[in-house]
Amino acid sequence: MQSLPAILDARLRAVTGVDPEMRPATKPQFGHYQSNVALRLAKAEGRPPREVAAGIVERLDVADLCEPLEIAGPGFLNFRLRSDVLAGSVTELLEDTAGGLNKVNHPQRVVIDYSAPNVAKQMHVGHLRTTIIGDCFNRVLSALGHEVIPQNHIGDWGTQFGMLIEEVLDEKLDVPTLDLTAADALYKRAAARFREDEEFATRARSRVALFQGGDEESLTIWRQLVDISKPAFNEAYRRLGVLLTDDDLAGESTYNDDLPVLVKELEESGVAVVDNGALCVFVEGFEAPLIVRKSDGGYGYATTDLAAIRRRVRDLKADRIIYVTDLRQGGHFAQVFAAARKAGFLPEHVVAQHVGYGMVLGPDGRPFKTRDGSAATLESLLDAAEEIAAPNIALAAIKYADLSNGLQKDYTFDPERMVQTTGDTGPYLQYAHARVSQILRKAQAEGIGYGAVTVLEDPVEQQLALQLSRFGEVVDEVAQQLTPHKLCGYLYELAGQLASFYEACPVLKSESDVRASRLALCAATKQVLALGLRMLGMDAPERM
Ligand code: ARG
Repeated sequence: MQSLPAILDARLRAVTGVDPEMRPATKPQFGHYQSNVALRLAKAEGRPPREVAAGIVERLDVADLCEPLEIAGPGFLNFRLRSDVLAGSVTELLEDTAGGLNKVNHPQRVVIDYSAPNVAKQMHVGHLRTTIIGDCFNRVLSALGHEVIPQNHIGDWGTQFGMLIEEVLDEKLDVPTLDLTAADALYKRAAARFREDEEFATRARSRVALFQGGDEESLTIWRQLVDISKPAFNEAYRRLGVLLTDDDLAGESTYNDDLPVLVKELEESGVAVVDNGALCVFVEGFEAPLIVRKSDGGYGYATTDLAAIRRRVRDLKADRIIYVTDLRQGGHFAQVFAAARKAGFLPEHVVAQHVGYGMVLGPDGRPFKTRDGSAATLESLLDAAEEIAAPNIALAAIKYADLSNGLQKDYTFDPERMVQTTGDTGPYLQYAHARVSQILRKAQAEGIGYGAVTVLEDPVEQQLALQLSRFGEVVDEVAQQLTPHKLCGYLYELAGQLASFYEACPVLKSESDVRASRLALCAATKQVLALGLRMLGMDAPERM
């Protein structure tokens, strides 16, 4: 559904030949939308602005949508949408099978790389953010009709397994009996010994070579560590209510067999060159080269990411690849993308984007820590929020806090504030949804029916209708720019307008025609709130 302001914008653009910069009117007496295009054109043409405005009004045909246009002050154009048009747009929204979303004509295959925790380690707050953000992208893009392919690039390979396996053997541990908390503790013991014990470190390093060379004993322990980690990740996903499943797992180890082949290709084509014993890809704009094979013959994180891009393009046929990680990996991805372009793995027509997010801070403004001072795990955050609210509310509180500011920004984890049902919070949106549901429930219980929106006299009703008509456009923008905070902001405004509407316009207590029309307006608002909340990964409760 194209929104009313978008239609006006397009027509005014066609008449003037420039961007009309339509803005919501600053005061109700100026109508619903304003444009200063006449003032700008007048300046350029050296003509009186009101005259230019009059000329535009003469040529612009919007009588089907607006009241007669007004030229205000020095030459502003004021648009007031006809109330029957606004009413019709809400009715249309209510009947739209896509719920007001603009389904895409040409679906893309979009790979989203998110979550990606590391084997034998607990998920930390950073993984909370990537999981929530990636899940939101998944929901928004899927809702528009794109084919989303989630890729959970878990850290299931790499040199850390050398020390992990050595520690398991030293402690004679039976890995399958461990849970992830115990594995995490094992990881910490192994890391500490690796730092402090020279002999252990040497053994761990040779273990890496042994293990990556296919040693059965090492591989068995590795597999056990992976196997005990997966259920714990899945449990976290269940608690978070995100869409990830085992089908989306494509960890670092997936690409093992590709690495030597890919590296050889790069060497032969001359894209990679040997420098100080290491095989490197030099890309413009980066001081250090991207090392695809270390001087000891090993492959690192970047090589795996190159292999992943190659498969995502070649096998998964991605049109767009989105990576959601901590901001600090921005440089890594910029360089990997550039190297992949240079190597021909990432053709021009495939879009690759890194979406970086900021940190979760504690009340002291420093990276969030648990009470005992250790880095917070994802579970500890959920526990803290669930101490003060029911799980579906606590979850909405956390997700909203995560999504409602620019993703790049750090945010303060303050469960007391986040679970409030007033203010700019997830539960506030849920409450708005529950409250409008209650009105509709009551109407149903009293046998009051409704169909179309027919009366839209009150300015607050009109504002609510206008806001509803913008829904599809807002979601399009979020899908393009990957800015969930804009959807949050939109829904927050909508909930506020709904509250003003209740205050000014009685629903169940009004006369029959008005009542039916207002109920339909309520139903459309509920529909948008529910769809919006769901795209943010939040529950839309009927009662609260
Ligand atoms: N496992 C990494 C981490 O915990 C994130 C991986 C992100 N994805 C990727 N393709 N590199 O930081």
